[in-house]
Amino acid sequence: MIRASIVGASGYTGGELLRLLLDHPHVEVQQITSRTYAGLYAYQVHPNLRKRTRLKFVVPEALEPVDVLFLALPHGEAQKRIEHWASLATYIVDLSADFRLRDAETYRRWYGHDHAAPAWLDKFVYGLPELYREELRQARYVSGVGCNATATILAIWPAVRAGLVALDQGLVAEIKVGSSEGGATPNPGSHHPERANVVRTYAPFGHRHTAEVIQALGVEKVVLTMTSVDMVRGAMATVHAQVRPGVTERDLWKAYRAAVNENPFLRLVKERRGIYRVPDPKILAGSNYADLGFALDETTGHLVAMAAIDNLMKGAAGSAVQSMNLMLGFDETEGLTFPGLHP
Ligand SMILES: NC(=O)c1ccc[n+]([C@@H]2O[C@H](COP(=O)([O-])OP(=O)(O)OC[C@H]3O[C@@H](n4cnc5c(N)ncnc54)[C@H](OP(=O)(O)O)[C@@H]3O)[C@@H](O)[C@H]2O)c1
Repeated sequence: MIRASIVGASGYTGGELLRLLLDHPHVEVQQITSRTYAGLYAYQVHPNLRKRTRLKFVVPEALEPVDVLFLALPHGEAQKRIEHWASLATYIVDLSADFRLRDAETYRRWYGHDHAAPAWLDKFVYGLPELYREELRQARYVSGVGCNATATILAIWPAVRAGLVALDQGLVAEIKVGSSEGGATPNPGSHHPERANVVRTYAPFGHRHTAEVIQALGVEKVVLTMTSVDMVRGAMATVHAQVRPGVTERDLWKAYRAAVNENPFLRLVKERRGIYRVPDPKILAGSNYADLGFALDETTGHLVAMAAIDNLMKGAAGSAVQSMNLMLGFDETEGLTFPGLHP
């Protein structure tokens, strides 16, 4: 058994990691940290885990060496003490944005401050298995993925990889997100009377996950427009692009079919009938699937590519466990087979 601990286990992604790792056949969770809830049982914060574990939260200073350390900390915390975290474990999976970008200058441009540990940036592999599977098999340090970046990248990646998109025309992604993206600490905007029933565009452009999309797809002009909607879990990316002259619906079918056949957690949703004709995050809560869809106006060459995910799963803890599986040589799907709920 691999020994794993979770730093920041009282948060939303930390709780989701704990849920997944408790069911993982090759992992034993050693310790979970929280300063606020130190001494309490995990289920007192994550009530879905009652009767599943007797683990109690400990303060981060009490951490003992393990094989894998998961860091689920607010932005900026992992980089401040990366040497310390690395002294505690052979493998690290960091869910924050601290080690997602490859170079310090790009990091500074998007995050507005210098990186605290720039020498560590190229030690980390971006934890999106669909694009970096072979690199993850060799990795010791894995960065998490931005949930909105994940949805945007996966929506259009099959078409980009097949060379069907006119990349010089750029990409525009409309992204609708649920409230759990904001983490467990409340703020005025997450207060129920303010957050319920909203369709609130909070970033027309300039969202930091844009940098991950540019890095992963090699496209220069990318716009992410972020809108909060009335759901708890879920991110839905609708990406607009121009295809190359002559590209047909048939070409796209081929590209998307190849991508879903090669990747256990990608599914193509493109139905003529029924309610679920295109991806919908509603049915993905708790699941590691990313549902992809597309529609092409063959007259104008306008492509609408879609991806729905659970932000806490494929957009965070699910991809993190999938990456750990690859890094440690386990089957990629181990511990991640829950298909979601319907209705
Ligand atoms: N929410 C999402 O959908 C999502 C998706 C992808 C990636 N992410 C990223 O994942 C990370 C965690 O997000 P989250 O939503 O789970 O956040 P969260 O709910 O706010 O949880 C943060 C956790 O970190 C702990 N913590 C805070 N400051 C700490 C410190 N200085 N040292 C040690 N522990 C500390 C907190 O517990 P105590 O304060 O009790 O110690 C808590 O357990 C973030 O970097 C976020 O950007 C989030």
